[in-house]
Amino acid sequence: ISKSDSQLIVMHEFAADMYHHILLNTEEGQAALDYLENRGFTRELIEKYRIGWSLPEWNYMATALQRKGFSEEELTASGLAIQREQGNGYFDRFRGRIMYPIMNESGKTIAFSGRVLENTKQEAKYMNSPESPIFQKSQVLYNVNHARGAIRKNRKIVLFEGFMDVIAASKAGVENGLATMGTSLTAQHIRAMKRFAQEAVICFDGDDAGWEAAKRAAIALNEENFKVEVAVLPGKMDPDDYVRENGSEAFKDQIIGKPHAFIAFAMMHARRHKNFQYENDLLQYIQEVLQLLAGRSSSIERDLYIKQLSNETGLSEEAILQHYRKLENKSIERSRPPKEQPVNTQPAKRSP
Ligand code: UTP
Ligand code: MN
Ligand code: MN
Ligand code: MN
Ligand code: MN
Repeated sequence: ISKSDSQLIVMHEFAADMYHHILLNTEEGQAALDYLENRGFTRELIEKYRIGWSLPEWNYMATALQRKGFSEEELTASGLAIQREQGNGYFDRFRGRIMYPIMNESGKTIAFSGRVLENTKQEAKYMNSPESPIFQKSQVLYNVNHARGAIRKNRKIVLFEGFMDVIAASKAGVENGLATMGTSLTAQHIRAMKRFAQEAVICFDGDDAGWEAAKRAAIALNEENFKVEVAVLPGKMDPDDYVRENGSEAFKDQIIGKPHAFIAFAMMHARRHKNFQYENDLLQYIQEVLQLLAGRSSSIERDLYIKQLSNETGLSEEAILQHYRKLENKSIERSRPPKEQPVNTQPAKRSP
């Protein structure tokens, strides 16, 4: 870690302490503290996640950092302050937001996400720090510092869509939760996850966006040889909503404790918004599921899900199996290398 990187971390640690102090110990932090209390945050959780409050002033943090001796370059490099376009000086990136520190694996703050108190159309609900030498969104997973031990113990990661869900899960006693910082799951995230476990339970929001994101994450993890399961929430709830409405035990037993196997989830996904009274929907469904199965080797899975397809659609297992074999042959043909490799006799082109 370079000297400038460690300076950036010092700045973020300083800011995290200050935001946290303002939330817990000042008059100005009271409204935010009430908001958190209403959302079910205990004092213990606020401390564990070092949650804070940024004052709705133009340059409170910028001034504090400059007083600590940080230079203008360091101020802008940290992303905590933004240089004014006209005139001199800097203003704070985060103003009047609940501050969630994003910590690296050793628990040091490397970025923030700030939430508005009240959702409006004008402002983004969450604002994140910009990318910096110490914060790359495509790599960082929220909560690794807290969850590592529990992940190793359970041999399993629970992947959530939002970091609020990670916190709610921890409150409910599910300590092996991680989340991306609002981006989709990248190859780099998956590589980071692999260092801790080979199994993952995806537990995303129950709305359409959550279902789509869960499908993409499940495919990506499956391709990287994770054992993937998907825990599904009723209605459009997210895990945080569910814990608040139904309690910790229900969340652990009914949701996290009853995940669906990858294929079973993919079938539920494919059934969504389909009406089997329409031939097209029915045929498309069968096609989607068989295509998924053709890419997998287990004959037990094949039998199990073809049986289920037959039950769901009223078509005979034989007819479905026959169609499956056709698809399978096609996919074998596609993956067979051409018989004769053409030999490249051309000399390599030189660059001018
Ligand atoms: P959600 O909209 O599901 O947020 O976005 P949430 O976790 O349920 O938050 P609450 O309960 O409304 O407070 C999921 C994730 O997408 C990113 C954040 O990382 C969030 O955790 N996001 C969302 C943003 O970065 N910006 C936004 O404006 C909204
Ligand atoms: Mn969502
Ligand atoms: Mn279910
Ligand atoms: Mn959500
Ligand atoms: Mn939520």
